[in-house]
Amino acid sequence: MGAVLDAGCGTGENALHVASLGLAVLGVDVAQTALAIARAKAGDRGIEAEFAAADAFELERLGRRFETVLDCGLFHSFDGDERPGYVASLASVTKHDGTLYVLCFSDDRPDTGPHPVSQEELIAAFNPGNGWNVAAVEPDRLQTRYHDDNGAPAWLATIKRSYIRR
Ligand SMILES: C[S@@+](CC[C@H](N)C(=O)[O-])C[C@H]1O[C@@H](n2cnc3c(N)ncnc32)[C@H](O)[C@@H]1O
Repeated sequence: MGAVLDAGCGTGENALHVASLGLAVLGVDVAQTALAIARAKAGDRGIEAEFAAADAFELERLGRRFETVLDCGLFHSFDGDERPGYVASLASVTKHDGTLYVLCFSDDRPDTGPHPVSQEELIAAFNPGNGWNVAAVEPDRLQTRYHDDNGAPAWLATIKRSYIRR
């Protein structure tokens, strides 16, 4: 399997998990403190993973493309008018036929997180017109600091990168 990008990796738990499975991983975040913690965890655990500062709206600056891109808890933090820029930025680093996984707060259960997202919003944000196809949107849970161990209601969207259809 090819390289993985974790967009908005925070302190790196997901990136480190993926790296521990033997995959090449780059975790990016705007928060230098989070990146420093992620690098320290990688060192402590003896896991090889790369972490770099990057703005999720300017991922093309990485100059790299990935087979798989992860977004755990970032997409839902952006307002509707910010989403097209973020989605285009994700497209610039995802290989054709690559897969993006988005885990975001969902709107279909009570006690969800701030800025819950609907399935319709996901399908509208990632569409054939901008080079994406939503393959699946499944109910899941998202761990947060302010929910119990069961986490918050979430959607796990599996989204394929495709050619732009006009
Ligand atoms: C809710 S945390 C999720 C962290 C990690 N993905 C996880 O699941 O634990 C969202 C992360 O996105 C980062 N972030 C917010 N805006 C960003 C941006 N424009 N570019 C890159 N990272 C951003 C934050 O610094 C934070 O670490």
